[in-house]
Amino acid sequence: MAKTIAVHSFRRGVGKTSLAANLSTQLALNGKRVALVDVDFHAPCAYQFFGLRDEDITLSLNSFLEGEHDILAVAQDLTARISLQGGGKLFLVSASPKPSDVTRSLRDGLDMTGYADAMAMLERELSLDFMVYDCSAGLNEDTLLTTAMTDDILLMLRPEQQNYQGTAVMVELARKLEIQSIHLVVNDVPESINAQELRQKVEETYGCDQVYVFPHADEFMSLSNGQLFVLSFPEHMITEKIQALAKRL
Ligand SMILES: Nc1ncnc2c1ncn2[C@@H]1O[C@H](COP(=O)(O)OP(=O)(O)OP(=O)(O)O)[C@@H](O)[C@H]1O
Ligand SMILES: [Mg+2]
Repeated sequence: MAKTIAVHSFRRGVGKTSLAANLSTQLALNGKRVALVDVDFHAPCAYQFFGLRDEDITLSLNSFLEGEHDILAVAQDLTARISLQGGGKLFLVSASPKPSDVTRSLRDGLDMTGYADAMAMLERELSLDFMVYDCSAGLNEDTLLTTAMTDDILLMLRPEQQNYQGTAVMVELARKLEIQSIHLVVNDVPESINAQELRQKVEETYGCDQVYVFPHADEFMSLSNGQLFVLSFPEHMITEKIQALAKRL
């Protein structure tokens, strides 16, 4: 059975896709068979982290949900793109970045019938060890459907007041959904904040002992499309933290 992980947050722009793409890559580097599933139907962009362009996503989760083809046809093998050795595999299953598909999913919603079965089929047919879901921020139907079927949730937040309240709602929801394990990642933390104190505060506030504090790193800005943090900065503290997280999952 694959371990399934939803990367989620209450607010937008907290670093979900960056973490989902890098964590999936790290798991594959560790020799695992991994699918990164971009279920951010409102703004899919995980593919950009692997140097793919909009036009490379010809078959998508949207076209699968519309009954156009099998789910296996959506899975793109990215293994060669990240030059993996040692048996690891990385697949990408992406929502459609086509503006007309994004607009349609926002306007009409998506018929998610068959989604859960399709994910189970992917897991089986690709013999996956991990499925990492990159979700859209906030509470919406497709995200709820995804989080309800995952083993673990990685809830991300920035150290800002508005993030704390919204994250409390998400933690409560994750507990109601009986998600096995809730991990909190406080991301983009400025140097001026004491990481140890912050971790303790977050642990106490949410009653959660799996809290990770990721510092702000200017290096993110130097990355272009197709560059992954863990591959470009293998010695960086953030890479070490992603490696530790990958081992703990
Ligand atoms: N630790 C960090 N230090 C500095 N910049 C970061 C850090 N983590 C992520 N970023 C930057 O923050 C921005 C938002 O990241 P990302 O797109 O991964 O967020 P997201 O949560 O997926 O956003 P959305 O909710 O829109 O999907 C990107 O420019 C990314 O490079
Ligand atoms: Mg994102």
